[in-house]
This record gives sequence, C-alpha cells and structure tokens, in this order.
Amino acid sequence: MDHRITICTSCKHKGTQCRPGYELIERLRAAIADAGDLVADDFEISGVACMAGCDRPCTVAYHGTRKATYLFGDIDPETDIDDLLAFARQYAVLEDGWCSSVDRPGKLRQTTLARVPAAIVAIEETAVRAS
Ligand code: FES
Repeated sequence: MDHRITICTSCKHKGTQCRPGYELIERLRAAIADAGDLVADDFEISGVACMAGCDRPCTVAYHGTRKATYLFGDIDPETDIDDLLAFARQYAVLEDGWCSSVDRPGKLRQTTLARVPAAIVAIEETAVRAS
C-alpha cells in the first residue's frame, strides 16, 4: 500500500460530544472496498487522536511516499464519503500528489486546511536551487 488516509478519532461534532471519526473510518473503508478498483489495494485507512485541526472537525489527511500531504477539515461521515473516495482515486494517480483546489472533488475544494509538499521532493528542489 503506497497511500494512507488518516482520520481524527478525537474530533467532536460541533456542539455535541459525538466523535464521528470511527464512523468515518468504517464508512470510508466500506466505500473503498465496494469501489472494487485499484484504490482498494492502494490505501490504508487508520485513525489518530488529533491532527491539530480541532476547530474544523472531522479532520482527514491523505499522504503517500513522495507525495504532497493534505489535511481536510469539516468532514462529515453522513455526507462526504463520495468526495473522499473521489479524491482517493485522484490522489492515487497524481505523481507528486499536487493538485489545485478547483481540481479537487466537491466539498474538498473549500475545506483544505493544509497542502504540504512531499519531503523528498522539497529536499530535491532545494538542492537544485542551491546548485
Ligand atoms: S481533535 Fe480532531 S484535529 Fe484535534
């Protein structure tokens, strides 16, 4: 598996004590398994206690070797599984993982909290600029 989706399990729905992260993990795992394409073999989905996006629950990160990392906020397990699945397909085929907001599916155009270049690519570009 070359890609990982990490979901915050500590985020609470605004104004409630409900923590939807585990539901989000279950729903996204089921959607990716049901998709029955290469995405199912290529992504691991796991939870983490916090990704410092606590004001924008739930947070979801996409990362992969030599790829940009994304952190999305305001993700709801009831309404956003299709967008997360669509972005997994898109992310899987982007060589460096980089894409602009207008190219991201649905809600993910407006809910990106961070897009961080891949560490390896960033180091290589710095070395080129320094030489
Ligand atoms: S509690 Fe979810 S990002 Fe901090």
